[in-house]
Amino acid sequence: MPVITCIEDLKRIYERRVPRMFYDYAESGSYTEQTFRENTSDFADIYLKQRVAIDMTGRSTATQMIGQDVSMPVALAPVGLTGMQSADGEIKAARAAGNFGVPFTLSTMSICSIEDVAENTDKPFWMQVYTLTDDDFMRRLFDRAKDAKCSAAVITVDLQMLGQRHKDLKNGLSAPPKPTLKNIINLSTKWRWGLEMLGTKRRGFGNIIGHAKGVNDPSSLFEWTAKSFDQALDWDRIKEFRKMWDGPLIIKGIIDPRDAVKALDVGADAIIVSNHGGRQLDGALSAIRALPPIMDAVGDKIEVHLDSGIRSGQDVLKAVALGAKGTYIGRAFIYGLGAMGEPGVTKALEVIHKELDISMGLAGRRTIDEIDRDVLMVPKGFSGEWE
Ligand code: GLV
Repeated sequence: MPVITCIEDLKRIYERRVPRMFYDYAESGSYTEQTFRENTSDFADIYLKQRVAIDMTGRSTATQMIGQDVSMPVALAPVGLTGMQSADGEIKAARAAGNFGVPFTLSTMSICSIEDVAENTDKPFWMQVYTLTDDDFMRRLFDRAKDAKCSAAVITVDLQMLGQRHKDLKNGLSAPPKPTLKNIINLSTKWRWGLEMLGTKRRGFGNIIGHAKGVNDPSSLFEWTAKSFDQALDWDRIKEFRKMWDGPLIIKGIIDPRDAVKALDVGADAIIVSNHGGRQLDGALSAIRALPPIMDAVGDKIEVHLDSGIRSGQDVLKAVALGAKGTYIGRAFIYGLGAMGEPGVTKALEVIHKELDISMGLAGRRTIDEIDRDVLMVPKGFSGEWE
């Protein structure tokens, strides 16, 4: 294994090894990609306070997310098409997460089905669900998640329709890729990926094919979203989902404090501050800037998590110091997965864990509980004073 010192190292290998269309799928934001960029760059506006001569022995990053033990406050975010980044990618990522002691969240738009992941892993995972019009499909999805012993459901509420990512349209993104000349040329340089893909039967949307009605082209994410996603979604409909699932529930995709307050009424166990990795409303505030006002609005009433922009343990530390009880990595684990499969996901988790552990120590904190706002220097007006 090459020497990997940071998430960026994994990204470089990932870019070489995975077909362009799947690299682009993960590495895009919508439209101008402003929000996608600022999700990561805004972390740099927050500084950490260096503290010295404090006993730093016996540190631990262990904590809980929604009452479940985690070895650090980091979960794997749901990422569509993970099984196209590496053959059986969802199973590999779920195993790596399980062994590391952090939650894995399976996307509805995964390649490996819920049942596949459950059969091939030995730790419970979390199931992400989109909000679709097809009531039968939704009920069955929750039932399938229950049968698979998923230990939480994550409802994504910021995808009533898909924000446009230009590259996906230009690349003709599909799962599996169509045999166009452009794809054949690109795939011919990705022999390792191709060989592994030939060795698996999981190459389509495993949760959807055979389960959803009226999907004519099961390879097309765009057709499926355009037809099936519920543009009429409202909080009453989200309450219906709450009734369909009696286990722990997390609502993902909150950026505005008013929506955080609404999410409270639904009876969720946690909310995730997220703008979908900058893939939906381009021009929305970065997640880390959105976090403080949401903490002010609901932080004492519900567990708040942060997704979108985390690429390092320092980022995790900053989010936790601002009040997040947990964070999510999407692209950061996908880079590892595409670069080197299951060991690559483990590597991504190790990198972030080590960065968090060392940075905590250098900031004078031994446990996650000790991390408070005083770890940070946050510029005045960080969350903005807007007209
Ligand atoms: C799906 O959720 C996507 O962002 O592509």
